[in-house]
Amino acid sequence: MSLRVALVALAAIARSVHAQEGTTQAPCSQLSALSSNNATFFPADLTLSCLRSVPLAKQDDLLQLQGLRTFLEFQSDLEYLADPVIGRIYPGADLLAGLDKLTSMLQDDSYDNEYDFQLDVFKLFSSAYDGHLSYIPDIVDVFAFARLQNEELNDEGIPAYFSLISVVTGENNTPDIYAYSDEPALTKSGNADYSPSPVTKINGEDVLAWVNSYASQNGRSQDPDANYNGVFLNIPALAYENIESNYFALSRFYQGNNTVLTFSNGSTLDVMTRAQLLSSKPLEGLTDGASFFDRFCNNNLTESLLAQANSSSTAPSLTASNDTQVPFEPVSTDGVAPPHPAYPSPIVIASDNSVAGYLSDTYPDLAILAVPSFSSVSPIEFENVVRQLLATANDDERTRLVIDLRGNGGGTIFLAYDLFRQLFPSETPYGAGNYRAGELHNVTGRIASDNIKQLRSAYPELVKTGVDGVVLNSFNYREPLTVDNEDFDSWKDFFGPHQNDKGNFTSLNRFNLTDISATTVPILGYAVDNITQPRTFSPQDIVLLHDGTCASTCAIFSEFMTSQMSTWSVAVGGRPQTGPMQGVGGVKGSQIQGMFVLSTIISAVISAAPLGDQISFLSEFGTDLIAATQQALNRASPGGALLVKASVNFRNNIRKGDESETPLQHIYEAADGRFFYTSQMYADQTAVWDQAYDSTWGSMECVEGSTEHPSSVTGGGNITAGPPETARNFFGGNGTIFLGGELGTVWRNGTSGDESSNSGSENGTNSGNGTTGGKNDDKDDKSGASMLETPFLLATSLAFSVVLLCL
Ligand SMILES: *[C@@H]1O[C@H](CO)[C@@H](O)[C@H](O)[C@H]1NC(C)=O
Ligand SMILES: *[C@@H]1O[C@H](CO)[C@@H](O)[C@H](O)[C@H]1NC(C)=O
Ligand SMILES: *[C@@H]1O[C@H](CO)[C@@H](O)[C@H](O)[C@H]1NC(C)=O
Ligand SMILES: *[C@@H]1O[C@H](CO)[C@@H](O)[C@H](O)[C@H]1NC(C)=O
Ligand SMILES: *[C@@H]1O[C@H](CO)[C@@H](O)[C@H](O)[C@H]1NC(C)=O
Ligand SMILES: *[C@@H]1O[C@H](CO)[C@@H](O)[C@H](O)[C@H]1NC(C)=O
Ligand SMILES: *[C@@H]1O[C@H](CO)[C@@H](O)[C@H](O)[C@H]1NC(C)=O
Ligand SMILES: *[C@@H]1O[C@H](CO)[C@@H](O)[C@H](O)[C@H]1NC(C)=O
Ligand SMILES: *[C@@H]1O[C@H](CO)[C@@H](O)[C@H](O)[C@H]1NC(C)=O
Ligand SMILES: *[C@@H]1O[C@H](CO)[C@@H](O)[C@H](O)[C@H]1NC(C)=O
Ligand SMILES: *[C@@H]1O[C@H](CO)[C@@H](O)[C@H](O)[C@H]1NC(C)=O
Ligand SMILES: *[C@@H]1O[C@H](CO)[C@@H](O)[C@H](O)[C@H]1NC(C)=O
Repeated sequence: MSLRVALVALAAIARSVHAQEGTTQAPCSQLSALSSNNATFFPADLTLSCLRSVPLAKQDDLLQLQGLRTFLEFQSDLEYLADPVIGRIYPGADLLAGLDKLTSMLQDDSYDNEYDFQLDVFKLFSSAYDGHLSYIPDIVDVFAFARLQNEELNDEGIPAYFSLISVVTGENNTPDIYAYSDEPALTKSGNADYSPSPVTKINGEDVLAWVNSYASQNGRSQDPDANYNGVFLNIPALAYENIESNYFALSRFYQGNNTVLTFSNGSTLDVMTRAQLLSSKPLEGLTDGASFFDRFCNNNLTESLLAQANSSSTAPSLTASNDTQVPFEPVSTDGVAPPHPAYPSPIVIASDNSVAGYLSDTYPDLAILAVPSFSSVSPIEFENVVRQLLATANDDERTRLVIDLRGNGGGTIFLAYDLFRQLFPSETPYGAGNYRAGELHNVTGRIASDNIKQLRSAYPELVKTGVDGVVLNSFNYREPLTVDNEDFDSWKDFFGPHQNDKGNFTSLNRFNLTDISATTVPILGYAVDNITQPRTFSPQDIVLLHDGTCASTCAIFSEFMTSQMSTWSVAVGGRPQTGPMQGVGGVKGSQIQGMFVLSTIISAVISAAPLGDQISFLSEFGTDLIAATQQALNRASPGGALLVKASVNFRNNIRKGDESETPLQHIYEAADGRFFYTSQMYADQTAVWDQAYDSTWGSMECVEGSTEHPSSVTGGGNITAGPPETARNFFGGNGTIFLGGELGTVWRNGTSGDESSNSGSENGTNSGNGTTGGKNDDKDDKSGASMLETPFLLATSLAFSVVLLCL
């Protein structure tokens, strides 16, 4: 999301100019010259040349890799990624082996520039296909590569991106790919009087092979259909964000100077591909790669946090809102302004468009709750919109509900709990999960649990902002509850570990919803949220509408609905083939954890602890840990909802009754039915809702073979059924060559025995201050204390305010 926000902000300040090429200047200096001429877009080749002219910072990069290793210890399903169970479709990703490989490649001087190295770090993290596991190095976040209709900006400063759609036409059963600009001609609306041809080739390659490869390289969902859909324009996302953000329009990877589309009638179209500046810092004044590094890389974290604290664009504050809850009462059905021309008038909509309610004109018994995001500027407003839709629909005798979750990548965790409770006020959301039980987690949690009073008095923000229940859920055993909603007796009782063939995990645990509702986000029926409202729809009269994007908080909500209430779901889109599709194609982990937030929590815990604990912590983990993790944070791009663009999937969500305790993102779950988009569905969202209704309660027409897969609700919900054959069809595309070339095979095969790279990376840590490395002979508690001071005071209040997000 931050990518899109950055694009809007930045596009608004510039307009395009074609500048003359200075052939003798360094590439970065040429970019600087273009920028002084107010260019918005930059030649892709020149931009890549500039990026690749940035000198390699070898010793610091070795330290950065070592720091990343520490953070990966908190990735909840690290071992499942390395050695997948049946539910995973993409190849496994042995991330620690990948770090070993990158370390030895650095040591072998395989890289001759900083960009190529950091791009490989980015790709390594991306190869997990886990939207919560992300590491965006600073240098990778300076530019994006955009496909454009032209280089102009519209009145709002938004670029004219070139987008594709995938739609069925005429009597066809499977969709073809068209330019979105052909949508009016396809729907025979407006003045268009020609018959558009579908795209048959891209850059000379078969279109389906190309798009499948491209989806695998750019997508971050664990499901290939979700990533396939991500290549095309998404109307709900566009309506919510006000800017196109599909992977065809925008990529982090260099895409050449242009993209050649070939159409079935033999014509071709060159789509221009340009670099677009994402950073808020200017290009003016760059002279070469070294000056590029100085400006955009290795940020002073304190300074970038200060800048974020002073800007209004930091994460929405959950406590600043003074909205009050509305009662369960109907509102006028007159309708208000739609969020986008493709939508009818909602009867109620949140000010940030995150949630809206509609009453169908087609079906007198149908209401629609559209939830493109659980990320809300005001959770209470979000909850009010839901309540007013339910009350109005009830009053209007609507008995069926489509919950449109297309484009929903998550948001505030507890809005999923409240939405579920508003639908089913007498049901208890399950929501149990566990954490990976690593050594650093063990030590931090024990120290936090032993010293909780000191911690709270040292960091009053914890109590003041009321988020300690979530911040410390995994570190203070008194916060979480057992699966039976009882207290844990001790740190050991909570931590375990519970061992299975994928490693060690904490006890299954649940959030204390009474506490959460009282202190953070109100959850209907808990603590102060004592509004009474009836159940307005029965589970079989609700259907979830998915497009594969659903992840995180959206996945939590969908799990409540399908697993606890057996509500059906219907998915739209996906690859042009028969068979089922998953509705929830994104990560199903129930808590993201920013690496910066994590390091802040650990630092706060240690700094508030008695000296003895500090010394034993430092002697166990060494001062190297601090230098290395700090370096990893310094090299991540600053900004975004988590303050620094680096995060892990922290908490596994576990199906009630699943004794194997398999993280849900490793379980294949088909939707109960599937349909494809038509061009009409891009023009009018009513057409999508009508089809969802028909597929569920009407004609029940679905894509052939897409119903009753054994993993679906209607098929019995078999969690070991695994994906169907078709799930691994990449249409001849490169499929999973995410990293390409020599790096690709290493972590996928899970070869790790590269011991030398470990000792080597320890050497890398010595470059800074010449200490003796990973041993603990230098347990100077002063160095411990100083590293724990700045920027923690600032950091804690910022970091603690964003932990509720589950994007
Ligand atoms: C760049 O934009 C600024 C502000 O809009 C304007 O004052 C300046 O003349 C422009 N420069 C060029 C070279 O177009
Ligand atoms: C797929 O691989 C072929 C051969 O290596 C390459 O030419 C093509 O560009 C790749 N396609 C994509 C989308 O990366
Ligand atoms: C891209 O365009 C530049 C000039 O605009 C040209 O020098 C370069 O060869 C082109 N690159 C490719 C891959 O076509
Ligand atoms: C980072 O910035 C802060 C605040 O400006 C400054 O006090 C500190 O010395 C800087 N740190 C480094 C390593 O430059
Ligand atoms: C609280 O609500 C009142 C009335 O709607 C408004 O004037 C005020 O600005 C709000 N305060 C905050 C902090 O949002
Ligand atoms: C956790 O820490 C305790 C000491 O506090 C230790 O006895 C136990 O072995 C540790 N558990 C694991 C799995 O490391
Ligand atoms: C799991 O914890 C046990 C101690 O309970 C320890 O012996 C073992 O090494 C741990 N396994 C892993 C993979 O960390
Ligand atoms: C849950 O939190 C509430 C409010 O803090 C507290 O009163 C209650 O005892 C907690 N529940 C359990 C089982 O500890
Ligand atoms: C709901 O809670 C409020 C205070 O939070 C209280 O004034 C009111 O009486 C409660 N209503 C019911 C029905 O318990
Ligand atoms: C679930 O699917 C697996 C794999 O097809 C099969 O072995 C197992 O018997 C199924 N379980 C049930 C309860 O049907
Ligand atoms: C990785 O696995 C593939 C297929 O499973 C195999 O062809 C390849 O040789 C393996 N590579 C390594 C480095 O073991
Ligand atoms: C690590 O550093 C020591 C001392 O500088 C050196 O002798 C050793 O060869 C280095 N090891 C590696 C793997 O670079």
